[in-house]
Formats: sequence, C-alpha cells, structure tokens
Amino acid sequence: MSKKWLYVSIFLLGALYFESAGQHIRPYGFEAAPYLQNLQEKSVSIYWVMNRSSTSWVEYGNSSDLGRISRNSQHGLFDANLPVQKAYLTGLKPATDYYYRTASVEIQQYGAYDVVFGDTVYSEVKFFRTPTAKLSEFSFLAFNDVHDRPAFIEDVVERESGFDFVAYLGDIMGHIDYTDQIISNVIRPSASFFAGEKPFYWIRGNHEARGSQARKLIDYIDAPGNRYYYAFEWGPVYFIVLDSGEGQPDTNQHYFSLVDFDNYRREQSMWLKDVVESSEFHSAKFRIVLTHFPIYLSEVVARDEIHRHGRAHNQEKFASLLNESGVDLLLCGHTHRYHVAHPEENVTNFHVVVGGGNPAQANSTYTRVDFSGDQLNVSLRYYDGKLIEQFTIDASR
Ligand SMILES: [Fe+2]
Repeated sequence: MSKKWLYVSIFLLGALYFESAGQHIRPYGFEAAPYLQNLQEKSVSIYWVMNRSSTSWVEYGNSSDLGRISRNSQHGLFDANLPVQKAYLTGLKPATDYYYRTASVEIQQYGAYDVVFGDTVYSEVKFFRTPTAKLSEFSFLAFNDVHDRPAFIEDVVERESGFDFVAYLGDIMGHIDYTDQIISNVIRPSASFFAGEKPFYWIRGNHEARGSQARKLIDYIDAPGNRYYYAFEWGPVYFIVLDSGEGQPDTNQHYFSLVDFDNYRREQSMWLKDVVESSEFHSAKFRIVLTHFPIYLSEVVARDEIHRHGRAHNQEKFASLLNESGVDLLLCGHTHRYHVAHPEENVTNFHVVVGGGNPAQANSTYTRVDFSGDQLNVSLRYYDGKLIEQFTIDASR
C-alpha cells in the first residue's frame, strides 16, 4: 500500500470511529419539537418526536406557570415506547390563551419486569390561542407540491405574518420510503418554523400515498376521525378536506395491486353527501374545500392527462355535490401550473385556485386567505411574495 492510500485509509477509519461514537453519545432529545394538530375551540392535540424510547406528558395552563398535566393512556397503559409522543388537551375554553411545554423521560431499558429510566427533557414553553365560532378575522397559508423542499415553507412563513394555521395541500413529500422523511422534510421543519404555536392541516397528495412507509404518515398527524378526509371549522368558516387519491386506475402496473382508490373516493362521496346536508355546513358564513387534485365542474379532463382517471373520478364523485351545496372556494395543486378559475353563470358556483409548481421551478406559488367580517380575501403569490392574482369573495348569506 502506498503512503497516500495508507493515510486515506487511516482517515476513513478515524471518521468511521468518530461517526459511530458520535451516534452513541448523541444526547437524548427531540427529533421534532412539539407541533399542534387539530386545534379546536375546546381541545388540541400536541405531538412531538423523541430520538429514543420515551414516555411523555404535557404541562399546560393559562399562564407560563402552567400547572395542569395531560398524559395520554390507552387500554389502561400510559403511552410508552411509541414512535410519536402525543397528548390531548380537552376541556379548553374558546378564544383563550394557553401555554404549554412537553416533558419526555427516556426509557433506557424496557423489560417485562425491569424498566430503567434516563433523563427527562422538556421543550420550551410554547403558546397558542383557541379559536372561537365568533372570530371576526383570521388568516391561513396554503402550500402545495413542495416535494421535499421545506426551506420554501420557511422562507414564506418568515415573510408572512399574522396567519393562524397552515394547510398542506398535498405532495409536500415526493414519496415515503422512510419515516425519517416524514420527520426531516415536514414535521421537524414545520415544528421549528411555526407549528409549535399554529397547527397545520394535512391534505394528502398522490405522492404521499407512495413508498413502503406511506401507511405510517397517519401516525404523525391528527385529523378529525383519524382519516385523510375530514371537516373542521375555524371561526364562522367551514372546511372540507378531501383525499383525491392516485391519478391512474387502481389496476395500473405502477401501483402493484396495492391501492384501492376508486372505492375510497366512493366512500368519501357518501360521507360528503352527509357533510353538505349538515346544519354546521349550512350555517357557516363561508365554505372552503381543500384537496390535492383540481376539481372543476365543467372541465373535460384531457385525454393526454397522465392522471386522467383520477382527475375524472374526482370530478364525477365530488364536483356536482360541491357545486350544488354552496361551496365558495376550492384550493388545490398537483398540476404544477398555477391557475385561478372564477364562477361562471349556470356552470360553476365556486372559485378554484390551483397552486403552482414545486420550489425548484420558477412558477412555485403559495396562497394566503384572509377572512374578515363578511369577506374572504384570497391571494395567490409567487415564492418571493410577488402577487399573481387577488380576489375577494363576499358572504352571500
Ligand atoms: Fe400530485
């Protein structure tokens, strides 16, 4: 072996040693700081991820003195040794300020008759405010097709201010081969940018149904009913979230007989019929649909559209129902080409905003919606904040 290769080998062996030693001594701590889910008038879910086996709780109260504790148990067992730490705060008051911090204890050894605990690690004290049906104003940001580039979200969130929550309109990731992708590309950055104090809602995209770990995504989010299609209210606005599924027929070879989206969309359609007949939906001041695939009433899906089947099936199952029920606005993505469509007489009754491409493309966009009084103000902007189109929807009821 030449001297040069001897030095290279020594260096590589040294690097390997320090890498493995570094992993071993990595201190117990957060993989992802706490993030809010499913914030409602009287409840909120707080999730976080630790780097080693843990048992956890949340301390909370109406001041930074905290004073109350919530610790989750199921089937008589406190949560322990689970991949995601979770606490559910209930009995909260609407329009009220809350402070909280998470606490996690490392479980160094978990035998049936011998459990060894390690250090306790606390988060910073965080703050949130519960919404109320009487809200006179609120705002949210919507992102789509970020495709594993969370810095895009950070840049926008830093620039925008005064928003109350974020809607992820699908394909925030390209696929899910490892659960660490969920943590690294969405959960950890969201928690560090905003989600410790403002929740995000996940609207699943077709890419997030791909990969060996796609079925684990639901473990990291909390949506009403523990499903990817759900409804929620924020102030006097009613939100419907749909899961548009995959684009090609379920029998397509690239899905390897592992998907069942036609049946799933039929199931959602049945659910949607009940939702649009509910008193909550009817009494809302505005109704907004969040989904991944664009849904237009009058669109003829092009024959060369790669996802023609899924696009057409979404239209068939949802478009008429939404159009006849008084929906005001639909936000979506997927095509990577931004587009805004307004209601047309005798055709479509709601506005559609399709977000643009992924952040590697020049046409990447985000949407901001501001509710105030009797108006929704909707603005579609390029990544750098430059306005593409802005419009106002007046409450008609
Ligand atoms: Fe997509």
